[in-house]
Amino acid sequence: MSKKITVNPVLQAIMNEAPVEDADRQEYFIAIAKKEVERLKKEAGRDMTCCVNTFGCQMNARDSEKILGVLEMAGYVESQDEHADFVIYNTCTVRENACNRVYGRLGYLSTLKKKNDYMKIALCGCMMQEEHVRKKIHSSYPFVDLVFGTHNIYQFAELLVMALYSNYQVVEVIEGNEKIVEELPIVRKYAYKSGVNITFGCNNFCSYCIVPYVRGREKSREPKDILREIEKLAADGVVEVMLLGQNVNSYGKGLQDPITFAELLREVEKIDGIERIRFMTSHPKDLSDDLIDVMAKSKKICRHLHLPVQSGSSRILKIMNRHYDREHYLNLVKKIREKLPDVALTTDIIVGFPGETEEDFADTLSLVREVEYDSAFTFIYSKRTGTPAATMPDQVPEDVVKERFDRLLKVVQEISEKKAMVYEGTDVTVLVETVNEQNPALVTGRMSNNSIVHFPGNKELIGTLVSVHLDECKGFYYLGTQN
Ligand code: 5AD
Ligand code: SF4
Repeated sequence: MSKKITVNPVLQAIMNEAPVEDADRQEYFIAIAKKEVERLKKEAGRDMTCCVNTFGCQMNARDSEKILGVLEMAGYVESQDEHADFVIYNTCTVRENACNRVYGRLGYLSTLKKKNDYMKIALCGCMMQEEHVRKKIHSSYPFVDLVFGTHNIYQFAELLVMALYSNYQVVEVIEGNEKIVEELPIVRKYAYKSGVNITFGCNNFCSYCIVPYVRGREKSREPKDILREIEKLAADGVVEVMLLGQNVNSYGKGLQDPITFAELLREVEKIDGIERIRFMTSHPKDLSDDLIDVMAKSKKICRHLHLPVQSGSSRILKIMNRHYDREHYLNLVKKIREKLPDVALTTDIIVGFPGETEEDFADTLSLVREVEYDSAFTFIYSKRTGTPAATMPDQVPEDVVKERFDRLLKVVQEISEKKAMVYEGTDVTVLVETVNEQNPALVTGRMSNNSIVHFPGNKELIGTLVSVHLDECKGFYYLGTQN
């Protein structure tokens, strides 16, 4: 049964009067959303609640903070789950199971919506950049009120107003990331740490990966905008920043005054109040000697490098279009370990890329043994329509991939457990993040190398750096005592 589409004349008038300039325009829409939410609150006799559910990577997590920022400014109160009046899923399409999880949950949302006349459902993020997804949402999930893409986040206030005043599915997806809009309201999930975007998009076109198609071409933010944002965060009590980009090592290319990632880090280091600097993700083809030197000299840059290898076979790396081979990667690791002996190395590995033979897989296993990663994210290759790998011959049978995946996981876990043990009995600095969920007498924090530590303490410690003695290693975390 299709719903009759009527363009609300009130919305028409609102749109006609909207300012053209971006910042003014979004401010205008926030004010309108605020009035409407206020009206709905009075009518319902209760608060209007919202739920932002994030799938996927740190980029999406950061976008979600921007979405929540606008929703809270409009008067919504965050709820713990999807029993809310505005539910938004920020989706990921990097692997098929991330997409299936979203479709699966939409059925559940439809039952919630039947019980709540005020409920609006929105979908955004990487999946929405794909036309076949939008078609499917339109035909099979007509109860979804709003669909928008990764480049529309800055317009969210406007889209929210459109959804509030419409009785049809509002769809707004920009294809390219031509502009970067600064100064959006943001609600940070944590008081003491924050992600900071430094680049958007990706130019690498690894042959298995959908990201360049859904996030667009790589674009760097101006260093002055990044530094100003971090200064503001520091003034607001943030002590740890995570610089975010699909490939942070190519930061600065294409700017009017090009600057390297290493140079940017030197500037971030100077900002008072910032105690820890993290970044993600590094591409092995672009990681410079200068970056290793900056890290070695730095007091603030954390001793952690996430350096996705994807495969240990030079033959597969070539077909993956990664622009490095096994030898280059291993040399890079050697250089890093020489200059940063205490760095934790983590990685991403894909198993079952088209054409992967037992010999190629053996190369991956031997590389993992040689590098001895502190931890590794292991993925089963997922065919993404539109990428070159999707149509490559010799897709590996599912049972073969599964068996290889299990073997890899075992090796990865054995090594991580062994590596974790080395800090037992030592004193380390921990940034306290939360009160422990299972045991409120404990607090949980992270070491510079990202290892998790639990120790007796209270919520006053959150956001502070504390010296902790590591009494016992429990595999993936430590139990300690404050010194
Ligand atoms: N299949 C499996 N894993 C993938 N990744 C990206 N695309 C795919 C895919 N099609 C993994 C890569 C990347 C991480 C974020 O996701 O390992 O580093
Ligand atoms: Fe995908 Fe490769 Fe870009 Fe990473 S560098 S986002 S794996 S295309």
